[in-house]
Amino acid sequence: MSQVFPRFDGDLYAGEHMVSELASEFGTPLYVYDAKVIESTYRQFTAEFEGIDLLMAYSVKANSNLDILRRLFNLGSGADIVSLGELHRCLKAGVQPERVVFAGVGKTELEMEAALEAGILAFNVESESELRLLNDVAHRMGKRAPVSIRVNPDILIDTGHEYTRTGHSESKFGIPSDRAVDVYLWAAEQPGLEIVGIDVHIGSQILESDLYKRAFNEVLKIANELDRKGINLNFIDLGGGYGIGYSDEDGIAMSTFANAIVPIVKDSGLKLILEPGRFIVGRAGVLITKVLYVKGEGSKKFVVTDSGMNDLIRPSLYGGFHRIEPVQLKDTNASTLVDVVGPICESGDFLARDREMPLPEEGGLLAVHTVGAYGFTMASNYNSRPRAAEIVVDGSEVVLARRRETVDDLIRGELLPNGTLSS
Ligand code: LLP
Repeated sequence: MSQVFPRFDGDLYAGEHMVSELASEFGTPLYVYDAKVIESTYRQFTAEFEGIDLLMAYSVKANSNLDILRRLFNLGSGADIVSLGELHRCLKAGVQPERVVFAGVGKTELEMEAALEAGILAFNVESESELRLLNDVAHRMGKRAPVSIRVNPDILIDTGHEYTRTGHSESKFGIPSDRAVDVYLWAAEQPGLEIVGIDVHIGSQILESDLYKRAFNEVLKIANELDRKGINLNFIDLGGGYGIGYSDEDGIAMSTFANAIVPIVKDSGLKLILEPGRFIVGRAGVLITKVLYVKGEGSKKFVVTDSGMNDLIRPSLYGGFHRIEPVQLKDTNASTLVDVVGPICESGDFLARDREMPLPEEGGLLAVHTVGAYGFTMASNYNSRPRAAEIVVDGSEVVLARRRETVDDLIRGELLPNGTLSS
């Protein structure tokens, strides 16, 4: 696996900057993203699909920082969104609305109205009730809502954790394959709906291309049946989920994926939409945290850092593995078995458990790798802790892409003892 954040003379770098200096300037905990890595990953990804009509709809939930979004939209990316908040971010960051698809099982009327107003490419509809409401809302607004049905193909995949599997019948997502044609036939009759495509998303952190081929063929069968019934689709949206390497494993081989998918897309004559999130930004982010204390008498040591599950919840929530290493490596650091834990008052608050690593010194810095996706976007204010700052490094340039929250940010909007709302 190539090193995204390289080391020279024992010091970790982001772009042309020493990470320890960035931490001195911006404080910790600190999310650092490498813009060049994001941009080159985006370019490599899209290059695999030359010759077919592809819309790359970056999955905003992975990392929704405005600066990252702006950079991706400048490269021509569209967006896969799941909320009014994500729509707002995308519009602020300069997305072309006709490159936006809107997924999610719980869209509200307000969200439908805003997306219709913005003129998005498609609603990926996840239930028959949602479809009825969308028809009513669009009709009332004198519009036709562009619709693609999210089909649940009932494919169970080992994604590493049950919470990231979405394409099997026990999951809340999508409409069962065997209902899809009837639902399309109903939609075709409605004044507020316009059928534009079909959608499937089978899970996240998937490493095998063949599973996508299976999902594609499953929805293609439906598309062909619809064609015979006079309903023509413009696109197949194959969702996201393209896996990356967190420890020693390789990510999904994009060329293998493209080789499996491109010929069948060409044959189908349909446009392809892909919604990668993690694949584009995951490797490009590192969380810098400070070691506050090292404790423990026995064989097991606890390294207490200033970041915890509030900054990065993946280890606690999914047992997610993230490589952790000192920002400055010294020859004297002997390898020891440690738990890297945060300051949150929960036993489940850890960044790593039973990890062999050089024992860091109190006051030293640690880098938690591969956190560009589902790191900051899943951060919370639990225990009333301000969220971390985010910076983007681009070669020699550094921008503060989100300032560190203050304690006043934490109480904004709450009722003060004097009866006013804190601003
Ligand atoms: N499209 C749809 C419909 C999705 O539900 C998702 C992710 C994506 C695209 C993007 O998936 P990606 O390419 O990033 O894997 N928080 C979890 C991952 C949850 C994914 C939810 N949906 C984690 O940290 O692993």
